[in-house]
Amino acid sequence: MKATRVSNQIYQLSINVEGILFEEMWEIPKGTTINSYIVKGEDIAIVDGFCGWDGLPESLFELIEGMDVELQDIKYLVINHMEPDHTGWIEAFKKIKPDFHIVCSQKAADMLKGFYNHTSQIRVVKEGDTLDLGKGKVLSFYEVPNVHWPDTMMTMDEETKTLFTCDLFGTFGQAKEANYDDNLTEEDYASYEEEGMRYYSNVMGTFASQVKRAVCKAKALEAKIIAPGHGLVWRNHPEKIIEAYERYVSYSPGPAKKEVMVLWGSMYGMTEKAVAHIIRQLERENIIVRNHRVPETSIGQVVTSALACSAVIIGVPTYEYKMFPPVASALEEIGKKRIVNRLAFSFGSYGWSGGAQKELREILERNKMSWDMIASVEFLGNPSDEDLDKIEQAVSEIIEQIKQLS
Ligand code: FEO
Repeated sequence: MKATRVSNQIYQLSINVEGILFEEMWEIPKGTTINSYIVKGEDIAIVDGFCGWDGLPESLFELIEGMDVELQDIKYLVINHMEPDHTGWIEAFKKIKPDFHIVCSQKAADMLKGFYNHTSQIRVVKEGDTLDLGKGKVLSFYEVPNVHWPDTMMTMDEETKTLFTCDLFGTFGQAKEANYDDNLTEEDYASYEEEGMRYYSNVMGTFASQVKRAVCKAKALEAKIIAPGHGLVWRNHPEKIIEAYERYVSYSPGPAKKEVMVLWGSMYGMTEKAVAHIIRQLERENIIVRNHRVPETSIGQVVTSALACSAVIIGVPTYEYKMFPPVASALEEIGKKRIVNRLAFSFGSYGWSGGAQKELREILERNKMSWDMIASVEFLGNPSDEDLDKIEQAVSEIIEQIKQLS
């Protein structure tokens, strides 16, 4: 992509990323972008780094070509937070321009030595502080700790009301020719709704209450443009991404959408027979189902669907007196992401001994998930007609409660 103009004297440098695991663990089937921004006053600042965690990307030099900016002209590096996807270029940049100034929070300053052996020309800012770049460009800073790192802050260009929000309001999904919400179709919005939910649930879900506070703070600033570190820049309808994040944070404590996740594993097809029965029943009632077999489905997708759904049906056979391990680790991750208060039902096959349902209860308890487990059905080998009747009854109760949600 080329550098593009965000607003008066503000430019976006953005790269598409694909074929990687985000944070080396989250699947991103539609890729993502890493965004940074140049703000030009008398002095020049770059906000959120140089698009990459592995030195200065070659694409950077192409990106700034034609912008009438040389790397040596950049005086201030505004670090909204220290995660290396936004700072991994510092040591390489030092070789090009040794006398730059870093602007960051105290907590970020504390990390700079350990991460990049950098200790000089650091200007620590706190809530409400400003940096005058000249020519009417004044940046102000707002702390949003634990979104999702403790050092996080947002930066606002007061003249254009452009709010650089770092990871807050980020989405997965690659950009097309230009990385803006200017001409989104309904289909694009639906895609970004899901990719935003994937981003929030995978990367930030653990910090739901802090994210909620940050969303309120950002909303109160009445930004005209929201420019995050990943995904679209929202300058046509900034309220859309604020509303989306308000929805996501509300899904963490539930209830969420009128959708049901069926999370299951099966070794020899016996638990799977009950799954097929359940899916048919849900579809007959026109319930939206997110059907995820593990380990075939990525943990990132499972966590996204757990956030989206108000009910979770768990199909898990017993494996060595415990849960089939892929289902157990998926549930542990959902618990760590603080996805609580779901309506739930579980079932599964065993051979010489049960045990899966016991471990399931332990995981829910240990992670303080407060899931309302309406029933558990364990069966020896294949599910009998009587077992399927019991399962059908429990699923009917879930359907009824889901339909009653507003
Ligand atoms: Fe995009 Fe938390 O770094």
